[in-house]
Amino acid sequence: MAAIVIVGAQWGDEGKGKATDILGGRVDYVVKPNGGNNAGHTVVVGGEKYELKLLPAGILSENATPVLGNGVVINLEALFEEIDGLEARGANASERLKVSANAHLVAPYHQVLDRVHERFLGKRAIGTTGRGIGPTYADKVARIGLRVQDVFDESILRQKISSALDVKNQMLVKMYNRKAIEVEEVVEYFLSFRERLEPLVVDSEYLLNTALDEGKHVLMEGGQATMLDVDHGTYPFVTSSNPSAGGACVGSGIGPTKITSCLGIIKAYTTRVGAGPFPTELFDKWGEHLQNVGGEVGVNTGRKRRCGWYDSVIARYASRVNGFTDYFLTKLDVLTGIGEIPICVAYDVDGERFDEMPTSQTQFHHAEPIFETMPAWDEDITGCTTFDELPEKARDYVLRLEELSGCRISYIGVGPGRDQTIVRHDVLAS
Ligand code: GDP
Ligand code: IMO
Ligand code: MG
Repeated sequence: MAAIVIVGAQWGDEGKGKATDILGGRVDYVVKPNGGNNAGHTVVVGGEKYELKLLPAGILSENATPVLGNGVVINLEALFEEIDGLEARGANASERLKVSANAHLVAPYHQVLDRVHERFLGKRAIGTTGRGIGPTYADKVARIGLRVQDVFDESILRQKISSALDVKNQMLVKMYNRKAIEVEEVVEYFLSFRERLEPLVVDSEYLLNTALDEGKHVLMEGGQATMLDVDHGTYPFVTSSNPSAGGACVGSGIGPTKITSCLGIIKAYTTRVGAGPFPTELFDKWGEHLQNVGGEVGVNTGRKRRCGWYDSVIARYASRVNGFTDYFLTKLDVLTGIGEIPICVAYDVDGERFDEMPTSQTQFHHAEPIFETMPAWDEDITGCTTFDELPEKARDYVLRLEELSGCRISYIGVGPGRDQTIVRHDVLAS
């Protein structure tokens, strides 16, 4: 029995999809515990590129059962579009996918509210993906949300939509100067998915725990990342869920005592999409270099990702708040041939040195990176399959990051392909 959690250690897009894909072929279930179609995972299989938003990347592992857990927020239109897109390419998605009856639903009014609210914030906007994620989680916590199971009880569905719209229409009309949304329109929208949704719905908490009891392997594929976590991230510039490891337990109904490994995914440098502080951000030719060579454009919204050097303060922090057992270091190949590589080892905050994450938001906004540098290698590493095959300078860089980052680096990505991964320690072997 193995229950492995995959967590982004930085601000997202670390390569969680690829990590899931590599392990997915050897597990029985892949459950997505948080987030919705705000994610964007690119997975390259046999030269074919797949882009997933709402579905877990585990959908590409034919032998695993993919599950949307109770902690996910589901846009049903986006879900079926994504399933149809995959099936048009020959994947078998709808017969394998399971959806938690307790997962919350993104309503059309959540998407409208996300966008109008961002516009209303102006310069203070968070730079959300505009998918209605924040408003849906807000309704969940306010106890006025809609759940998957509600689609199968028309009278409850209507009642819930009606009471949610009582308040939201006031906001839309009086605050944001928009048209009111009709209750029946929203009811019809959800009922139109009922037939396709019904065969997918399960008691996912029971399903996953029974599987673990039977000795099966479950992978929890977290979306987003630690620094976007509503509790542990750079609040308020965060998403509205808990992408950290604890959130994976809540969002899948798997208790913390069952977890066997907690795998942090971290890039060999740092990227961020949307607004918010980012101490190692680059505004020079090296930022552009990482952006170009790393192909750092968001899958979900097509926005360019902001780029910066590796930040070991964040790595140590992420390792601590998630209890990582292992790191999966991705995109080492992107640093080939750049001469010298700066690594942020601590921050200078208004003249004071911080080796660990400062407590206050103001301090973090003022944090200036303190760098040490290491020489880069010039050899092409994209074909390396073992640690020893890496050039000495690449090995030294990895070993230094390991020393600085709070836990061992067990996997190293040297290219986007499934087989472009060096395994130093296999989490499924422990
Ligand atoms: P996720 O959201 O964490 O799944 O990450 P994304 O898919 O949004 O972004 C990661 C990008 O890096 C994708 O385009 C991957 O194909 C790519 N990628 C993952 N690992 C590696 C690697 O080791 N080297 C290179 N060059 N690309 C990688
Ligand atoms: P994956 O799973 C990178 C960012 C948005 C914005 C903030 C809030 O691919 O790593 P939201 O729409 O969630 O309310 O936006 O969070 N964000 C991501 N950034 N990767 C993601 O997902 C993200 N999901 C949300 O850009 O700054
Ligand atoms: Mg992504």
